[in-house]
Amino acid sequence: MNRNGNALFDPKLENYLRDAQTSQLDELSEWLRIPSVSTLPQHKADVERAAGWLAQKMEAAGLQNVEIIPTDGHPIVYGDWLHAEEHAPTLLVYGHYDVQPIDPEELWDSPPFEPTVRGDDLYARGASDDKGQLFAHVAAVEALLAASGPLPVNVKFLVEGEEEVGSPALTAYLPAATEKLAADVCLVSDTHILSPDQPMIIYGLRGVWAGEVTVKGPSQDLHSGMFGGAVHNPNQALCSLLAQLHDSAGRVAVPGFYDEVQTLTEEERTALAQVPYGETELLQETGAPAAWGEEGYTITERIGARPTLEINGMWGGFIGDGFKTVIPGEAHAKVSCRLVPDQPSPAIGPMIEQFLQGIAPPTVEVSVNTLQHAPATVVPLDVPEMRAAARAYKSVFGVEPVFSREGGSIPIATVVQESLGIPILFMGFGLPDDNLHAPNEKLHLPNFYRGIRVGIALMQELISS
Ligand code: BES
Ligand code: MN
Ligand code: MN
Repeated sequence: MNRNGNALFDPKLENYLRDAQTSQLDELSEWLRIPSVSTLPQHKADVERAAGWLAQKMEAAGLQNVEIIPTDGHPIVYGDWLHAEEHAPTLLVYGHYDVQPIDPEELWDSPPFEPTVRGDDLYARGASDDKGQLFAHVAAVEALLAASGPLPVNVKFLVEGEEEVGSPALTAYLPAATEKLAADVCLVSDTHILSPDQPMIIYGLRGVWAGEVTVKGPSQDLHSGMFGGAVHNPNQALCSLLAQLHDSAGRVAVPGFYDEVQTLTEEERTALAQVPYGETELLQETGAPAAWGEEGYTITERIGARPTLEINGMWGGFIGDGFKTVIPGEAHAKVSCRLVPDQPSPAIGPMIEQFLQGIAPPTVEVSVNTLQHAPATVVPLDVPEMRAAARAYKSVFGVEPVFSREGGSIPIATVVQESLGIPILFMGFGLPDDNLHAPNEKLHLPNFYRGIRVGIALMQELISS
């Protein structure tokens, strides 16, 4: 087997794919140089430039009706190719061209927006999440049109610039665009596989709730010598409140949190036990000294199939150099939850607020403010497109994919499935150690080239499903 996949296409396409590798890498690198950080207002023009770059590339690849759709936020990019044989299915490819902020910048070994190849990896913000993975599918269309003639299926591309901020514009846009976006199946490459040689189809993603906890004490900051010991310190109260969000078995202690959670069936637990991922891999990938989590569940179950509550950040009082003897007037925390099927994402914030207010001492006031929520996504496994997806992975990697559930969230996924009435194939080719959202994000290049092949193979397999 060739490092980048079996030779499985006709010789003309194989030659094209071999010769195109350098330009594919150069073009992706050019796109990665545009710092399309969706959450930072100072990058608004860059985000727009990244959309423009993509639209041009999609046209050059042979996609038609390419549009940069303006929104209240960042633009959506659309393009299609609709000339497949009669009755051929339509594949909708979804992805995002926005990226996460780069901080802490000093921990990057090469600048985040100067794509750098080291060994077999391309380092840059967005290399894996999600510019590299989305670009592969544009390259797949381009290769087929250039070297093999008409596509076997119709394709539509829907690429947004707000995934990392919860997809507000696309959520508003989708309901009115269901005819334009009508398709038989949606392909999303925005997840990872288990290892360079082990593909993985994701059939469930967790939902998310994110918000802020505020604890208020005195009406302003106080001298800790004059008032310390007589006024409850909001930082201390916050810590004590946050510490009560979990019990000693690692479960979320908020009443009602587990009420709607679907119990894992024995069948699913047996299936998830087949995923070759456990404590050894977890500790190796994360560098954590020991695993942690809800008692009674395996690592795969804890990550993909059980809900969680995380404290993402805490602040209050003085955190500069040196010291300041102060009692802050307020203390804050960013908290988020990962949700599993049937948990009502809008109800989580009020649940947490009610719990915290119930246990808060009379010395402080606590409130919870919701910033984002989206339900979990479940993909039907028993559809013919899923079998086509498995065949496509197998043909390129030479190995059957494993099926698993992932812990991350793609908030728009459920909206796509429900408003268009189609299943999503989560066929990523990132790796667990790609450093998503972290310093030194990378894309493993052999998998990038395999990803292009998987895109081609999927188009071919979909007509024989
Ligand atoms: N591509 C990720 C989601 C993901 C990561 C799925 C790893 C599976 C494995 C996506 O870009 C992402 O980061 N989503 C955010 C959504 C949030 C900002 C609402 C997430 O999961 O934190
Ligand atoms: Mn992503
Ligand atoms: Mn992301």
